[in-house]
Amino acid sequence: MFTKDQIRHFQSLKTPFYYYDLKLLDQSLEEVKKHGLSRGYHIHFAIKANFNAEILERIRQAGLGIDCVSGAEIIRALECGFRPDQIAFAGVGKTDEEILIGLNHNIYSFNCESLEELRVLNELANREGKVANVAVRLNPNVEAKTHKYITTGLHENKFGISTDKLPQLFRLLHDLKSIRLMGIHFHIGSQIRDLEPFRQLCLRTNELQKEFEAEGFHLQHLNLGGGYGINYEDPDLEPIPDFKAFFDLFSEHLDHRDDQQIHFELGRSVVGQCGSLISRVLYVKEGVATDFAILDAGMTELIRPALYQASHRVDVLTSSKPEKTYDVVGPICESSDTFQRGIRLPELQRGDLVAIRSAGAYGEVMSSGFNLRERVKSYYS
Ligand code: LLP
Repeated sequence: MFTKDQIRHFQSLKTPFYYYDLKLLDQSLEEVKKHGLSRGYHIHFAIKANFNAEILERIRQAGLGIDCVSGAEIIRALECGFRPDQIAFAGVGKTDEEILIGLNHNIYSFNCESLEELRVLNELANREGKVANVAVRLNPNVEAKTHKYITTGLHENKFGISTDKLPQLFRLLHDLKSIRLMGIHFHIGSQIRDLEPFRQLCLRTNELQKEFEAEGFHLQHLNLGGGYGINYEDPDLEPIPDFKAFFDLFSEHLDHRDDQQIHFELGRSVVGQCGSLISRVLYVKEGVATDFAILDAGMTELIRPALYQASHRVDVLTSSKPEKTYDVVGPICESSDTFQRGIRLPELQRGDLVAIRSAGAYGEVMSSGFNLRERVKSYYS
């Protein structure tokens, strides 16, 4: 994965830092173009997964739009050259100020998550003398079979409008004059590796589309959200997710009308594998059951293991000694600040470099200043 020259360069840099392989990003984007954009699908990159300008620039050049969940993300997308008509804005708790940012920039769509939000949006749009484009996010009650913290499409989750509210929703959509219905939106969860939940989502979308049509609504687009997963166990085996299989599934199972656009909001599958967190071993501490490799990176740089019990592969870059067993941990004063438990790695010593892989999505963007830790740098090649 890393060349000798790269490792030599890494040794001269202050650790920890994020490293992004832009060539791999470009190759992933090529696959998205080949199997998604070329079929006429519209793809909005979920900027929450990674908001680095270098990465967004490549995503923009590839022809993707942006899916935002905050006013600041809308502004970042605009600053990075995305056109307002390429921006969708989702989120269960949009503030008035954020709604106004979207309205004043005439973004493509507000993906509304409650009846109350629709009323507020209508009122603000009316006050501004505008008509807001809306997609209603529906909760399809489809089990995504992923970690419970990243499941979003079940009734128990806070996301989307429950389908038993459809009669009230239809009434509102007829009554509110400062919103224009463009489509329906779903996002059932994240890191979904098994395609079956997406097939279920297609079937549910087909049924719901008919209910909207029966009420006289024509949907300009169907937005199926994101959620496609990546191979965290073996990133080198699958550096680019199988986008063909993903988009084929929707082509096969979604009943889409001739003049209708199909939208997706991919995040992790586009950028996940191109990023690594590079860290140095600070200490190797002998433990009772296992030895601890204590890194200079912790949950403040990559919170996914602590928050979702996520497993990121750890590659040792500077040792090829016989293997030993380690718990690989960070320096933060929390026991959950652990990257891996009981893994076999080449024997480590103070100063060795490791790469924590598959950290391009929800890595750097979720870093925190806990313990007054500095925000780390990122490098690209
Ligand atoms: N669309 C909406 C409305 C979303 O909420 C999300 C992610 C996406 C699209 C993109 O999903 P993706 O293709 O990246 O799975 N921090 C967690 C993931 C949270 C995902 C939140 N929503 C993690 O590190 O696993």
